[in-house]
Amino acid sequence: MTFLYNFLIPFILNAFNSIISNEVKTLTDDRHLHSETSGSNNVINKTNLNTKSYKKSSERINSDASLVYDKENTNSIIEQITTKYDVYSSEDILTKENMKDVLLRQGKNVEFDNQVFLITFKNGTKAVFKPCSPYYMRTALAEVAAYKFSLYFAPFIYVPSTKVCTIDGQLGSLQEYIETDIDLVLPSWKDAIKGKKHTEFDAVSKELDKKRKDLETLIISAGKEKLGAYAALMYVIGQWDIGPHNMLLKKIGKGELEIVCIDNAAISTPFESITCTSYPFVNVYSSSNFNTSDHDKPFPFKSSKRIHKPTVAKLKSVFGNKIDDSFYKGMEFYGWFEYVIWRSALWKKVENDTTLFIRSHLKYCPQQVLQRLKELNLKTLKEIFYDAKDDFANEPFLHKILERRDKILKEFKYS
Ligand SMILES: Nc1ncnc2c1ncn2[C@@H]1O[C@H](COP(=O)(O)OP(=O)(O)OP(=O)(O)O)[C@@H](O)[C@H]1O
Ligand SMILES: [Mg+2]
Repeated sequence: MTFLYNFLIPFILNAFNSIISNEVKTLTDDRHLHSETSGSNNVINKTNLNTKSYKKSSERINSDASLVYDKENTNSIIEQITTKYDVYSSEDILTKENMKDVLLRQGKNVEFDNQVFLITFKNGTKAVFKPCSPYYMRTALAEVAAYKFSLYFAPFIYVPSTKVCTIDGQLGSLQEYIETDIDLVLPSWKDAIKGKKHTEFDAVSKELDKKRKDLETLIISAGKEKLGAYAALMYVIGQWDIGPHNMLLKKIGKGELEIVCIDNAAISTPFESITCTSYPFVNVYSSSNFNTSDHDKPFPFKSSKRIHKPTVAKLKSVFGNKIDDSFYKGMEFYGWFEYVIWRSALWKKVENDTTLFIRSHLKYCPQQVLQRLKELNLKTLKEIFYDAKDDFANEPFLHKILERRDKILKEFKYS
């Protein structure tokens, strides 16, 4: 471990600095996550995806004007962007598979909503591609920012190397694929009761509870250092969508487990939480229809309301025409819907999976992490979020990160 802290950090920071300071850089780093089973030949962290170029967003998108899609002009926004990101075509690619099929083939459970592909390049490299729209790039930019954040905080957290690219003209984020035989995702209730009689549902529920407890035990076995660092740093960066569905565990040397942080798109969505260990209220819908006059008021945590057994009809009767019908599409309803209306937006409390709410493990944070957090400043954040500065990462957003950092330092009485 001392080796990691004394040797690897300066080494990684060097890599980090080179990524963020030069105009055009390849997005590679030299963190090594050795697989316990596959030996030193199988260094999974070297993302050498025939990397071409990684340019500043000011070069990719020169001005707002370039974002205007001009049907008359063949040089459309998509073409403009594809010429400025790493570009891969079917010539570079061996296979492009739906992640859902890959997980099912591996006998794993599936819990995600968006389009996710496993790309196998002709040189054998595997990476995860998550397409995005050229008009809504924030998910991809957030994934890249989370990766850069993890380089700054290496080796305390691990986000696989990530960049923006196009594959056959489709824009998206491309992340190093982490192979692991551990499945942290529980079967959904719907899958669990498939082929079962009603009288067996109780037993199914007990079995799921046991699996959930076993998973929690497994995650805790990663150790309080790793878990503390993970929970604290994910909170600081603003990753509220944490849990087994968005993390991987990988066995590394001598039975050690590495926590791999995937799916960090949520950092671009504003949230509020009363303490660093409490469930977040996430901004799920903004509209001037709410017409609140509370811009100078703090978040009203104490006046949240609950709608029990929510249905679209019930929500509509509460929010009326303040919320567009499209909001309800694809929404899943169970338990209750707890919310606050603040600053002309609807903020929904997200309580995913109570027993596995990772942030509740934030009872300890390693001293080195606290020290590194103390060193974090606006300048570094501007570098980390450089590509997203014209999208979601404006100065108030960056100040929020520093505020959360201060909360952690206060929580652990670090000065
Ligand atoms: N870097 C990675 N290495 C290995 N597997 C990955 C990686 N990234 C994603 N996956 C797999 O793909 C699944 C879906 O990815 P991800 O969570 O990023 O998708 P999503 O649709 O954005 O999720 P959500 O529905 O939570 O928003 C994950 O649960 C995981 O099994
Ligand atoms: Mg996910």
